[in-house]
Amino acid sequence: MPQSIRLYIKRSTVSDLNCLKEGDHHFIQINQNKNPYKLLMYNDNPTLDHLVKTIDPMRQGEVLDFPGHQEKGNGKLFYIESFGCQMNFSDSEIVAAVLHGAGYRSTRNMEEADLILVNTCSIREKAEDTVRKRLYIYNKVKSSKPGTLIGVLGCMAERMKKNLLEEEKLVDLVVGPDAYRDMPKLLESAEDGHRAINVQLSREETYADISPVRLDSNGVAAFISIMRGCDNMCSFCVVPFTRGRERSRDPFSIVAEARDLFDTGYREITLLGQNVDSYHWKNPETGEEVNFAQLLRMCADVNPDLRVRFSTSHPKDMTDEVLYAMAEKENICNYIHLPIQSGSNRILELMRRGYTREWYMGRIHAIRRIIPECAISSDIIAGFCTETEADHQETLDIIRQAQYSMSYMFYYSERPNTYAQRNLKDDVSLEIKKRRLSEIIALQNSISRQLNQSDIGKTYKVLIEGDSKKSAEDFKGRNSQNKMIIFPKNPGLKPGDYVYVEVLDATSATLKGRITQNPQS
Ligand code: 5AD
Ligand code: SF4
Repeated sequence: MPQSIRLYIKRSTVSDLNCLKEGDHHFIQINQNKNPYKLLMYNDNPTLDHLVKTIDPMRQGEVLDFPGHQEKGNGKLFYIESFGCQMNFSDSEIVAAVLHGAGYRSTRNMEEADLILVNTCSIREKAEDTVRKRLYIYNKVKSSKPGTLIGVLGCMAERMKKNLLEEEKLVDLVVGPDAYRDMPKLLESAEDGHRAINVQLSREETYADISPVRLDSNGVAAFISIMRGCDNMCSFCVVPFTRGRERSRDPFSIVAEARDLFDTGYREITLLGQNVDSYHWKNPETGEEVNFAQLLRMCADVNPDLRVRFSTSHPKDMTDEVLYAMAEKENICNYIHLPIQSGSNRILELMRRGYTREWYMGRIHAIRRIIPECAISSDIIAGFCTETEADHQETLDIIRQAQYSMSYMFYYSERPNTYAQRNLKDDVSLEIKKRRLSEIIALQNSISRQLNQSDIGKTYKVLIEGDSKKSAEDFKGRNSQNKMIIFPKNPGLKPGDYVYVEVLDATSATLKGRITQNPQS
């Protein structure tokens, strides 16, 4: 263990932040120098187009920006937009670190950028369409500022490289998710007018030694990528093709990153991976192995005031050992994102998910038994190949049984090269897909509303994240179950503080409450 700790490279100064909050802007103090850096929030982004609803509807196309702090800059500015899952937003922070190292500073004003980047998502066709539209907008900006470079990063890079770079000439730079270290070299090449492309996927790359530059952060909650890629090959999913084979990052660099975040004022980390339950690392020197439950405990031991969350769990791999770690450590949050995808065994088999609805419900019962207060959420796909009305009813039925606090819900979108695209017929009409999806959404909303209303009168420990969106008089924060709670401010409290909040009111999406001194009331 000590040998591995010695190898860890210390985080760069840019992310050593103490975060303060004022009105709609964040002011950041770097290394106690009272040096204010204004961080504009994404919700007043002037360039956002119509947004596609994918994983987090609030964040699609978010312009990530840290107008940092650069001792030896090259005078060039980059602008980056990210689409898709949290993993992509986290990757943009790696890209920002690499570019900062190469002398670039970031900007949230596309017009002044020397380099416009888009971190792309391929999970559904709509996400790709949105990115294409953005590329035309970037090219308009480029036509009024020749010399600007445009780069496509992430999941679409491999799929679209030929079209985007050679045929349509929409971009100057194409970089796949495992090639971000190569960006300085690729940029030099693009500046000289050459083809700049690296979409090679790696079996080893985890960016373990790169300290992410926290972009557009609230200074309280941060994401830590613990693994990359996915080996599951669910038949509908393009991720194994765009992000490559699964590999786990060494646990000591993860814990060091968590400790560093805590020391700079962060109070919550979310460990990210496509399938965190299959996290597995073997120390090449000692042969010692670390699984996900052990990693969770190591992160929770950083400090009892550091909350630990994780996403995404896979029903076929989630162990009781993880659940016992959650039950034992107060600071591992009582919330599990456990996607079911479909409630029909026939469809689950066609999806190649590796479990049945009975197995899935067994996992739900284990969660309820070991962590009675745990909230569970899900991903659900409506209208997968050959789905009948009876299959759809089984999905509605399992949603009722599982009692999810919330779900991300989609209709099936065929993706190139997947098993489903090659072997199954996308035979449910768009009209039926949309109707089934709206039934799923209506049911989920009513369950979320009921569950939230049953929280009225309960008191929760809440981590303050910042001002509520609607009023500077109110704070917003989350309880352990990941539910957002809005409550009037008390003088002396600030983001990053814990408070006890009694729930007074609830909608399907949010709880409202008031601060109370008594944790039991
Ligand atoms: N069509 C619709 N939804 C999909 N997802 C993944 N691939 C597809 C697809 N082809 C959904 C799954 C997954 C989430 C991240 O996105 O529900 O869990
Ligand atoms: Fe895609 Fe399945 Fe891997 Fe999730 S577990 S990323 S759905 S292949």
